[in-house]
Amino acid sequence: MSAPPPEDLLQAARSALRQAYAPYSGFRVGAAIRTASGAIFAGCNVENASYPVSLCAERGAIAAAVVAGERQVTEVLIVSDSPDPCPPCGMCRQALWEFGPDLLVHLVGRNGDSRTLSLRALLPEAFGPSSLDGFPGGRS
Ligand code: THU
Repeated sequence: MSAPPPEDLLQAARSALRQAYAPYSGFRVGAAIRTASGAIFAGCNVENASYPVSLCAERGAIAAAVVAGERQVTEVLIVSDSPDPCPPCGMCRQALWEFGPDLLVHLVGRNGDSRTLSLRALLPEAFGPSSLDGFPGGRS
């Protein structure tokens, strides 16, 4: 049994979930991330009639943090309409890795069931910024 998820992140993610635009899947997702400064940023999924254009909740939250000048994520909490804790999709695992390889991932189901994992466990052997060290496309 892991410890209960942080209440402030849970409230922020649930409030974001209520704004989800998910007319195609009917599957609403809310995500809240905490950055190194302690600030919280939330996102919801935003679907599109052209399905692949849809945006996941986690990447919406990351964009909100980055636009506020925050680039170090320490925790993320994800809620959805599913009774089971909703794991982040592969694309969001990769997006989170860029800003917090050591971050904790809290997954919360509709009825409050929760699990906490590390991003390292969810994305082993990840490709990240250091993979590009020494290449023209690497960070400078
Ligand atoms: N979804 C997320 O927002 N985050 C995830 O990590 C998994 C999937 C959304 C995308 C789509 O709008 C809906 O859930 C069904 O796939």
